[in-house]
Amino acid sequence: MSEELVLKIEGLHVYYGAIHAIKGIDVKVPKGKIITLIGANGAGKTTTLSTIAGLVKAKSGKVIFKGRDITNRPAHLVNKMGIALVPEGRRIFPGLTVYENLMMGAYNRKDREEVEKDLEWIFELFPRLKERLKQLGGTLSGGEQQMLAISRALMSRPRLLMMDEPSLGLAPILVEEVFDVIKKINQEGTTILLVEQNALGALKISHYGYVLETGSIVLEGPSKELLKNDMVRKAYLGVA
Ligand SMILES: Nc1ncnc2c1ncn2[C@@H]1O[C@H](COP(=O)(O)OP(=O)(O)O)[C@@H](O)[C@H]1O
Ligand SMILES: [Mg+2]
Repeated sequence: MSEELVLKIEGLHVYYGAIHAIKGIDVKVPKGKIITLIGANGAGKTTTLSTIAGLVKAKSGKVIFKGRDITNRPAHLVNKMGIALVPEGRRIFPGLTVYENLMMGAYNRKDREEVEKDLEWIFELFPRLKERLKQLGGTLSGGEQQMLAISRALMSRPRLLMMDEPSLGLAPILVEEVFDVIKKINQEGTTILLVEQNALGALKISHYGYVLETGSIVLEGPSKELLKNDMVRKAYLGVA
């Protein structure tokens, strides 16, 4: 059985000077799925997403997007091809309104009617944003800023949505809301690569997971199985 892959990473190595941050990882992201990369602080999660996004250079290995080799292409081209990144720490534009922030996500698009439709879709996903369209991004709560950052990425109508620790620093009730909305975005057709330290939340909503430790994948499998795995339970789920 062959499944259509949106993204394939093969034997990827990334260095920061002498620091070997990614040590030959292989990752597959099939179309229509949520794939998660879990790991502790410093494991190499952000580096992996940054390399896919063209923000950090691969030393060797390949990044294949929809069958095309995009290794080390510049970030704006990668984005234009259909890969959107919601960076760690929800970097929205604080001095722009919610509406302007959303439109920044659509700046590459010329299909105005479709953009309007996507706005309506986003208002359904995040009714709170619709009520705050004229409010400055910087005045939103942390949770609302995360919703805005995700929405802005969706406004580019990505073929692959990458999210870097979307639950980080949010109150527990909002953490649940963010995971729920990620699941919903996926159910409505978007392929997602989700990076998280919150292993429980990420494994609960994803189809397949990879465990990253100091730049190497030490374990992978269907998320349901990882949730039952002893090593994962001890090291990442805090279960004795
Ligand atoms: N800009 C950088 N310069 C040098 N080392 C870095 C840089 N960014 C990350 N690193 C190092 O690379 C490793 C992986 O970091 P990172 O990808 O940020 O991990 P994670 O996102 O899993 O916390 C760490 O050892 C980190 O210190
Ligand atoms: Mg990180």
